[in-house]
Amino acid sequence: MPLSESEIKARIADLENQVGWYQDIHLGNGLRTKSRVFWGEDPDHPRARWQEIAPGVPADLSGMSVLDIGCNAGFIAFEAKARGADYVCGVDLKPGYIEQAKFCAEAKGVDVDFRVLDVYELEKLGRQFDFVFFVGILYHCRHLTVAIDQVSSVAKDRVIVESAIDPSNTPTPYVRFVRSSQFEERGRKLPGHWHPTMSGMEALFAEAGFPHIHRLFKIGGRGGVLAARNPCPTPVVSLEPDASHPGPTPHEPQTRPSDVPPATPGGAKTSDPSHLSPARPFSFSLRHSLREQLKKRIRWL
Ligand SMILES: C[S@@+](CC[C@H](N)C(=O)[O-])C[C@H]1O[C@@H](n2cnc3c(N)ncnc32)[C@H](O)[C@@H]1O
Repeated sequence: MPLSESEIKARIADLENQVGWYQDIHLGNGLRTKSRVFWGEDPDHPRARWQEIAPGVPADLSGMSVLDIGCNAGFIAFEAKARGADYVCGVDLKPGYIEQAKFCAEAKGVDVDFRVLDVYELEKLGRQFDFVFFVGILYHCRHLTVAIDQVSSVAKDRVIVESAIDPSNTPTPYVRFVRSSQFEERGRKLPGHWHPTMSGMEALFAEAGFPHIHRLFKIGGRGGVLAARNPCPTPVVSLEPDASHPGPTPHEPQTRPSDVPPATPGGAKTSDPSHLSPARPFSFSLRHSLREQLKKRIRWL
């Protein structure tokens, strides 16, 4: 039986108290999950992020299997389902987020297979997927190349990779480690982050078996690519190097002082930094107009 409006509202509030809503999922009848911002993310996160990567996603995913790694409450998995994917699986390390995702699927009446799973254990899925999303998680992976090898092991062909990046425009591929001390806040030390340059991100995936890399976007401290095993016909927005940002100084912090960890199910704070994203040097309107300009330069690759 479908959930009633009052049941949906009660569950949203309950799950807000447990882990907080990082993603704003629309559940129909004007009901949506997110009522406050935790980490400096957009109030309707991850819609802007989706707009940035969407040009690399086929409009029609029918007949395809899709995996959303680090799915959180399932936003990208639901978008894949809306594009007609046959089978969609979403995995996340945190049981609380998978609980949110399962609730959203039930409220929306959508069939998605959500599971608690660590990125280092993707092989346990025992299968490969036509299309894989690896969005907002690469920089959290302490064992970076092990995680990317796991992603490669479950990807038949195409992977959308989106990450916090080091915005320097150097063609030399490298990955910068942002030390944990830079995230220290209120006595808590948060784990460090890996920030690849765009060329570093491209090289990591080329090495992992994806020779066809298409740059989707690079805006301030975030970037995205479509990594594929085979030449692909997906329309891709090609971005010029972001020359307006010179790159970080050695001590430039990549997070905002206001970034705070979410509440645990018991109401206590954790030291989990999984939602930290670097401060974006562009205002939303500038990012928006940049995105609009770039959309005009769609080309077929
Ligand atoms: C910054 S959020 C990004 C969520 C979503 N992909 C988005 O773009 O809105 C990172 C997500 O990855 C999950 N995560 C972090 N480390 C993980 C790991 N080792 N394995 C699986 N999921 C992980 C977190 O629980 C969180 O939901």
